[in-house]
Amino acid sequence: MAEGEWEILEISLGEGGMQLTVAASSHISLLPGQYFLAFAPGKDEPAATALFLTAGGTVEWKLNSINPPAWQPGTRLRWRGPLGRGFRFPPSARRVALVPWAVSTDCLVPLLNEALHQSAAVVWYSDRLPGYLPASVEVLPLDMLPEVWNWADYLALECDLRNLSRLAEALGWDGIRRPGCPTEILLHTPLTCGGMADCGVCAVRTKRGWKMACKDGPVFDLAELELTQ
Ligand code: FES
Repeated sequence: MAEGEWEILEISLGEGGMQLTVAASSHISLLPGQYFLAFAPGKDEPAATALFLTAGGTVEWKLNSINPPAWQPGTRLRWRGPLGRGFRFPPSARRVALVPWAVSTDCLVPLLNEALHQSAAVVWYSDRLPGYLPASVEVLPLDMLPEVWNWADYLALECDLRNLSRLAEALGWDGIRRPGCPTEILLHTPLTCGGMADCGVCAVRTKRGWKMACKDGPVFDLAELELTQ
């Protein structure tokens, strides 16, 4: 884990939600799905939201913020990260399906880039397109989700923790049988303290008891989760 300071260069609101642009911190290695906690100037408490990398260039980074505080271009933020468990994209995956379910974020876009980089075929299931989508990516509507495990050899999902049972229903998954391929899910839930204060606000029910999304997630194996949260 590292710490540092970013100046917000730009704030934009698009299809992928609120995006902050900052200078790239290219020396940091992180997995898609890991997050940063940011501290506003003069504040010791982290902002009540986490920042997820959505585009990681060598000059600038874009970060998704689910419920951003009223920061402005020029605001300097202290940050800590990367935190939590990210997606563990299998190098052998050749048919990759990505499903941002009822969220307005671009958090799965870095995973999409990783999949294309290793020459995998990629399908994006959504009724909403991200800010950036290469032409080689096939887009399918969400009502085709029940067929996803007939095709994919790796599935990445993203949803709000409160919507997990609705997503499972859309997949036709009963919460018991093994998913049809390795399936990971980024669960959005408040990550208020990032594990520093053990506040418990990010608790997730799993088949092995309660886990903390800030430390044990926010990316989980779908098969580990209890559908009733
Ligand atoms: S956010 Fe406080 S324990 Fe997870």
